[in-house]
Amino acid sequence: MSHLIDLLACPRCDRTPLSENRGTYRCNACKTDFPSTGGIPWLFAAPDATLGEWRNRLQFELQRLAREAQLLRTELDGAIPLARTKQRLELQLQATVEHRKALQELLAPVDVQSMQASFESHLALRTRLPRDQGLHTYYANVHRDWAWGDTENRLALDEIRLALDSDKQTGDTLVLGAGACRLAYDVHMSFDAGRTVALDFNPLLLLIAKAVTAGGTLHLHEFPIAPKSAEDFAVLRELAAPAPVRGGFHLVLGDVLRAPFRPGGFDTVVTPWLVDIVSEDFPVFAARVNRLLKTGGRWINSGSLSFENAQQACRFGPEETLAIVVDAGFGQPFVHESTMPYMCSPASRHGRQESVFTFAAEKRSEASPPERHKALPDWIVTGQEPVPLTPSFRTQALSTRIYSYIMSLIDGRRTVEDMAKILEQQQLMPRAEAIPAIRNFLTRMYDDSRRQS
Ligand SMILES: C[S@@+](CC[C@H](N)C(=O)[O-])C[C@H]1O[C@@H](n2cnc3c(N)ncnc32)[C@H](O)[C@@H]1O
Repeated sequence: MSHLIDLLACPRCDRTPLSENRGTYRCNACKTDFPSTGGIPWLFAAPDATLGEWRNRLQFELQRLAREAQLLRTELDGAIPLARTKQRLELQLQATVEHRKALQELLAPVDVQSMQASFESHLALRTRLPRDQGLHTYYANVHRDWAWGDTENRLALDEIRLALDSDKQTGDTLVLGAGACRLAYDVHMSFDAGRTVALDFNPLLLLIAKAVTAGGTLHLHEFPIAPKSAEDFAVLRELAAPAPVRGGFHLVLGDVLRAPFRPGGFDTVVTPWLVDIVSEDFPVFAARVNRLLKTGGRWINSGSLSFENAQQACRFGPEETLAIVVDAGFGQPFVHESTMPYMCSPASRHGRQESVFTFAAEKRSEASPPERHKALPDWIVTGQEPVPLTPSFRTQALSTRIYSYIMSLIDGRRTVEDMAKILEQQQLMPRAEAIPAIRNFLTRMYDDSRRQS
């Protein structure tokens, strides 16, 4: 079976089935149309609002790159002592201009003029894109996946191989947070997968994956974090898959927290480098993974284990993680840990070594269905409940008041000492405390202004 439709459910109302018309889907129950973006189904709960948001993020990126190119031109117009510096800046300028053009072409399917991000429709559906996710957030992965990362990609696949033990059958497989999709591709090509579905919410990553897995070649610049040499500031890479992907491989744009799949549809769910970055507590997310699997199906997780959460109690260690997996209806997990290179671009001095935590666990029983994911609390969404005065809001309110007052004192004449005197007169803080506080704040403002320019 190579089609996708029987695996899908509506990400908005959870009902099945969807109907299909040439790659676009519709939920007749809630009357929502889900477009296709460059041949990839766009299965978000609020499809128009999400398309509008990614379009905004694309426009933002295009503006940023245009501005960067302009700044490079201005620098090139000035006096540059070293000929080598000039060469490097010229390389960076050319790469920035070409990258901007490449981005515009690749993301043309997202650049739908009529789509405006509507915060209201996100609010109504309790969905949203995390603020910190831009098109380039995981852009380095693209180059590792399809250009220089043979060793890292092989090691990542080895982890899955180990987790499968001698079983080469992965059946219908879902890869959540698939990124640029190399692991999903390798799983599909290496094991006896029926269908492999790779889901991510970043259209740049999936549009690149779509082009290369179809057998195409893309030329895109890599911008390493710590270039090894002057030529490494921008490296034009050729991105290609070892071979065109075989049938049954599907890409889906959607949110893992509102995954558009019917319950119990998959034999295998893979979560590579994902569980500790999603904005949902791990026990709830584990129950979501359980619901996607058939009984007897397998959850394979591999990657870092570094939960970031405001609450210390939710920063789970490995032992707690495994206990949570069992509590979510899985059998005792197989566990493997190994240390491997991670994002070690040959053009960068920066690279990591990660102690990768892999587990595989069989679904034994049905977890109770978690509530539909709410990206925002009711007091923001409904506007009918009091905004809670949390300790963090209280601290922020106080420091914002003081900082905005300090900003209002900047008139081009006053010194740090003058400002401290005024803060003391206003009984906001004693002078001895005010001087270091103002200096700290102004240092931050100064750093920010230098970064921006
Ligand atoms: C750390 S990267 C790992 C990418 C890929 N699995 C790999 O190993 O290279 C996390 C990926 O999860 C995706 N992601 C994060 N939150 C998501 C969400 N709520 N829905 C869909 N994708 C998400 C990001 O876009 C990114 O591609």
